[in-house]
Amino acid sequence: MTAQIISGKDIAKQIREELEQEIAELKEKHNIVPGLATVLVGEDPASQVYVGSKSKTCQSLGIYSERYDLPDTTDEQTLLSIIDRLNKDPKINGILVQLPLPKHINENNVLMAIDPKKDVDGFHPVNMGKLMIGEPDYLPCTPHGIQELLIRSGVKTDGADVVVVGRSNIVGKPIANILLQKKEGANATVTLCHTGTRDMASHTRRADILIVALGKPKAITADMVKDGVVVIDVGVNRIGKTDEGKSILCGDVDFEAIKEKAKAITPVPGGVGPMTIVMLMSNTVKATKLAAGLV
Ligand code: GUN
Repeated sequence: MTAQIISGKDIAKQIREELEQEIAELKEKHNIVPGLATVLVGEDPASQVYVGSKSKTCQSLGIYSERYDLPDTTDEQTLLSIIDRLNKDPKINGILVQLPLPKHINENNVLMAIDPKKDVDGFHPVNMGKLMIGEPDYLPCTPHGIQELLIRSGVKTDGADVVVVGRSNIVGKPIANILLQKKEGANATVTLCHTGTRDMASHTRRADILIVALGKPKAITADMVKDGVVVIDVGVNRIGKTDEGKSILCGDVDFEAIKEKAKAITPVPGGVGPMTIVMLMSNTVKATKLAAGLV
């Protein structure tokens, strides 16, 4: 069997077109333009690329955006006062602080300073808590993108054995929470594996749907999955450079070998990555509608 390749690129394009329509309607009917502020501290090249594509996508969709690129030496108080200003700015519906932050800044202090209504990343404890009780306003972008990939490519989660590898606050914990909700596109039996897991392969081999976000190139090999598995690879690992100086990327799973065994699999790049940005835009539109009392 050769797997169906789940194209995040194509599905993200579909969602972008739906959002374009929604944004045009907001403008026409209500004269409202959604606004997103991105905040980047430091010069990490990968983060610069992510934030750059977030601003570019805003522009192409008709979302107003403000970009704050701050030096690595920025202190916590300065960052908190920028967030305070953005919290109060009616043009701004969503605030995104790119992670990771430099070590001298306390990440939790910063995430907790964002007004939960403008927390389009869904990382504020209020939004994490709402997700946990099944009443989310904003789902974190990468996990939300994964759920959309599954739904839109016809993968049934109801009753499925889902195994998640990696327990980060950004991906592992929220996707586990999303997929165990008693809802459409969820209702799975979820196992969350991590660095403390004994005999990882005994879990991954049971998975109907395997979601991997552990940050190690090709850590999941073909002998660790069963025939007919659906694999969602969240990893983005830079394993070298082309002659032209472009990064060579690979995921956390051995794509070439596993695609011969799987029913469906996401590629890297072009799988989960494009979904994260489009779900951020979707959350920004939702924040705008919530602020205007339209939902
Ligand atoms: N760094 C890696 N992923 C993310 C994300 O989804 N949001 C933010 N703010 N930072 C990240």
